[in-house]
Amino acid sequence: MNHASLYHRASAVQRRDAKQIFEEFYDVMQWRRDGGDKIIDVGSGSGNVLMENIYPLFPPNFDEVMSTDCSEKMVEFARKNYGETERAIFEVLDIACKEIPEHLNGRFDHVLSFYCLHWVQDQRLALENMNKLLRVDGGDILLAFLATNPIYDVYLTLAEREKWRCYMKDTMKFISPLHLSDDPGAEFKKLLEETGYEDIAVQIREEVFIYEGTQK
Ligand SMILES: C[S@@+](CC[C@H](N)C(=O)[O-])C[C@H]1O[C@@H](n2cnc3c(N)ncnc32)[C@H](O)[C@@H]1O
Repeated sequence: MNHASLYHRASAVQRRDAKQIFEEFYDVMQWRRDGGDKIIDVGSGSGNVLMENIYPLFPPNFDEVMSTDCSEKMVEFARKNYGETERAIFEVLDIACKEIPEHLNGRFDHVLSFYCLHWVQDQRLALENMNKLLRVDGGDILLAFLATNPIYDVYLTLAEREKWRCYMKDTMKFISPLHLSDDPGAEFKKLLEETGYEDIAVQIREEVFIYEGTQK
């Protein structure tokens, strides 16, 4: 997850899902009547999904989009490839940081995040921080991430096997915090309520993606 150019080439599932979800929820999002929306994307990775698949769908008169990631390498890669894009800015941001940088507090109308939150073990802190990014009188967040995935069971199985155990010391860091939940939808909804969100919709969807070949 830290090799930007590889991720850039092998993110077909993320492209499909981010676009589909953004299109589906576009009309529910509270776009400003006067245009001028400020948007932040959390965990943009190499930037390709945001810049190539989501950016073209923004209202034409939006004000700015900030692409962020906790990985400096990812942000550097995104800036190098998309730095010339109009109204786009790039910053390093760990969404589970202790304190949101002052200049980002209350700055945005919309927080987006695709395929990132399953990497964040402290989701409560991440949601609190996302709330701080929003303007004080409202705004919205649109999140899509893995509640669970069969690969997580593979990690857990490997971690128990004598042969592989020594390589699997930090397994839980790579598993979505909701993977072992009996009711991930209810659990995440509760977390959203406790971190100050209103008008919440949480959906658990079962998705299948067929890769084009073994190389992918
Ligand atoms: C699977 S990639 C998703 C990239 C992009 N959003 C997409 O849909 O293709 C997950 C990204 O989340 C970033 N990430 C993980 N933990 C994060 C955190 N605490 N704060 C910000 N970004 C984080 C990783 O560095 C990685 O680039």
